[in-house]
Amino acid sequence: MKKIVISTGGGDAPGLNAVIYSVVHTCYRKGWEVYGSRSGYAGFLDIDEMIRLAPRDVEGIYSAGGTILGSTNKGNPFSRPVMNLAGEVQILDISDKILRNFNRMGFDCHIAIGGDGSLEIAHNFALKGMPVIGVPKTIDNDLKKTDRTFGFDTAVSTATEALDKLHSTAKSHSRVMVVEVMGRDSGWIALYSGISGGADVILIPEIPFDMEEVCDKISDNELHDKHYSIVVVAEGAQTKEGQVFNKGKGELGRDEMILGGVGEWVAAEIRKRTEKDTRSLVLGHLQRGGSPTTFDRLLALRFGAAAVRLVEDKVFDHMVALNNSKMVAVPIAEAIKMRKKVDLGSDKVQTARDIGICLGDVDPLELKDDC
Ligand code: F6P
Repeated sequence: MKKIVISTGGGDAPGLNAVIYSVVHTCYRKGWEVYGSRSGYAGFLDIDEMIRLAPRDVEGIYSAGGTILGSTNKGNPFSRPVMNLAGEVQILDISDKILRNFNRMGFDCHIAIGGDGSLEIAHNFALKGMPVIGVPKTIDNDLKKTDRTFGFDTAVSTATEALDKLHSTAKSHSRVMVVEVMGRDSGWIALYSGISGGADVILIPEIPFDMEEVCDKISDNELHDKHYSIVVVAEGAQTKEGQVFNKGKGELGRDEMILGGVGEWVAAEIRKRTEKDTRSLVLGHLQRGGSPTTFDRLLALRFGAAAVRLVEDKVFDHMVALNNSKMVAVPIAEAIKMRKKVDLGSDKVQTARDIGICLGDVDPLELKDDC
């Protein structure tokens, strides 16, 4: 009999509940106990935030968005900023306390469902002796060593559906519509949704963009009697001059910048340079919401069951991963080393270029033809 605790950390992603469902049911059939720690590590600090999870507690949740446990992307237990009475920010390391409570509560393993930030924390706990298994979650799909993270497929579907809807209004008004999508420093969501949603221009962080190339594409559309254009911009995209767009760090305890603003900037530049009627919109957290697609649901359910198999085999400090359609285990340290970027030599990038989508640069193949 084992006692397992699950936590969900970082930004939520469709499929989190499906992983919880899968872990609970798989463990139940083995006669193991499962607990859920609310809001990341809160359950290790306050027993009221640690909840017992039996099959009846997770009935039907596999199709629901969000996480029944709650999540947070601030308050790393190894460096938690707190405001003291004098109003100064102090950095506290509360990891020892969490580890002590983990042992005191009698847990055998912690299944940490998260992106690179949460998995780095989990790995640091593993280094301190906590048996940990990771499950790769993020709509950004930017985790190394797994072909896919769950949540990505749903985010891409949401963005694609939005693009489908924008075509008719853009066409009716002969406008340029600029859509900013999420993805942090990787262009996966922008590229996949942009290709699938008929974008004219896709700007991703991996290819610094040139506004002249973007505007040339829009003018070219006009020349070919297409009086509207759809531009998809990843929130982490930057100009070829190196201009980046963010809104600062936001709340206390956040490690990362809040990205955003590039869509509005690109729209203003297009308006100025082409005199076309241009509007911008930010899809934002819509991409994180809603029910997971069948792909994400199935992937999340597979990840959950595979994570329990790793607990049984005592393959700790590893993350379950999708590799060529198979479930495998990879060291968490490998997965968090660096973020997975769009491969510029991939057939998806080539497909975008082949079907005439501008990626904000000069097509390297066209350059080769010219020489
Ligand atoms: O990592 C997932 C993600 O949705 C990113 O795409 C985005 O930049 C970030 O989280 C937004 O975070 P928050 O929920 O703190 O606004």
